[in-house]
Amino acid sequence: MDRAILEPRRRFLEWVVALGAAGIGAIAGIPLLGAIVYPLRARTVREDDGFLDVGKADNVNADAPTKATVLATRWDSWARIEGVELGTVWLTRDPSGAIVAFSSICPHLGCSVDYLADSKIFNCPCHGTVFRPDGSVVSGPAPRALDRLACKVEGGRVLVKFQRFAVGTREQRTA
Ligand code: FES
Repeated sequence: MDRAILEPRRRFLEWVVALGAAGIGAIAGIPLLGAIVYPLRARTVREDDGFLDVGKADNVNADAPTKATVLATRWDSWARIEGVELGTVWLTRDPSGAIVAFSSICPHLGCSVDYLADSKIFNCPCHGTVFRPDGSVVSGPAPRALDRLACKVEGGRVLVKFQRFAVGTREQRTA
């Protein structure tokens, strides 16, 4: 065939192949691009925010509240980190035997509340607020009782919904 006719056809086919390859490359790159820009458009640090396992129900008794550490899984961009400590809670039982969970954060200014077994009271070492075993205030500057946290027992395990509350306020407000 005439070379003058073949040459434009060959160049046209080269263009078609090049455009096709570029198109396929662009389509294949979309997921990769999405993964790269994901942290720009999504909440990149998040934690478990439901009920978290804090231990065996059998270990909780009314006479001596048990301190439990609340651990969660954290997702930071692409990383999944197990066992991130969110805080601690006090577990005890009410008169009916039901398990009750209190935040260990003092509602006055946020110090960590201890339990004094000899006196059977919760005590905040920072400014001396004393709380009864049911969380109510005996004395001191704390403006409200210890913050109760939602909790339940499933399969013999205690599950607590860990929350932080504003300190220094009479009413309980999520921080
Ligand atoms: S922080 Fe607990 S009494 Fe002040």
